[in-house]
Amino acid sequence: VVYKNSKDASLFVAREIADLIKQKAAKGKNVVLGLATGSSPTKVYEYLIQFHQNEGLSFKNVITFNLDEYYPQRPDAIQSYVRFMNEHLFDHIDIKKENIHIPDGTIEEKDLSQYCADYEKNIKKSGGIDLQLLGIGRTGHVGFNEPGSSVNSLTRLIRLDKITRLDAASDFFGEENVPDRAITMGVGSILAADKIFLMAWGEGKAPIVKEALEGPILESIPATFLQHHDNCTFVLDTAAASEL
Ligand code: GLP
Repeated sequence: VVYKNSKDASLFVAREIADLIKQKAAKGKNVVLGLATGSSPTKVYEYLIQFHQNEGLSFKNVITFNLDEYYPQRPDAIQSYVRFMNEHLFDHIDIKKENIHIPDGTIEEKDLSQYCADYEKNIKKSGGIDLQLLGIGRTGHVGFNEPGSSVNSLTRLIRLDKITRLDAASDFFGEENVPDRAITMGVGSILAADKIFLMAWGEGKAPIVKEALEGPILESIPATFLQHHDNCTFVLDTAAASEL
């Protein structure tokens, strides 16, 4: 779906999320959201906070799993995704702290593979992801699944692509400060979600959006694996859709 700007597009996504939360709450059920960081979802989070404050939307039945985190990363670092999520969403809504899951960038390396396996188990134990939000990186990554990620990949440690580190350089005050690794949910973890919204704004994303939607399915462009999913919507502004 294409909207004239990212504000209208984000309102559409936020309304879909709010409707799902309310539908599940009416049945006394939890809803499991897969959440993303980066600039793409920030307006969606602003709208969700507004719905909470102005319309009484409650997040008490919401369980969240974030896609990724830099590694190593302290949660209080300004670039940490824990901090990002707290500032952009969690500090402003009534979600239960124990329902929030974000990959932990402080886990010791020797414990990481067990930690990642447990992250997957927790997603399954909570009932699986009902709705997954995604952005897209210029390398075609979703989460931090860089080129070469397989369709069945699960939560794991990954080495970041040079382009990704370049794109993150301003956040870290220089490319040399960007961690060279990250923990990310896998392509397989993402494809297991019932519904997926991938958001992309601006002309800078137009070439990769075209590849992801219209190109052949390739490991070198992990977002192309979304073509396998039967309930995945790309939510775009006119600029991001301009090469389709
Ligand atoms: C980072 C995140 C991704 C995100 C991507 C795009 O690499 N790990 O999950 O999709 O950036 O970011 P933005 O939305 O700022 O363009």
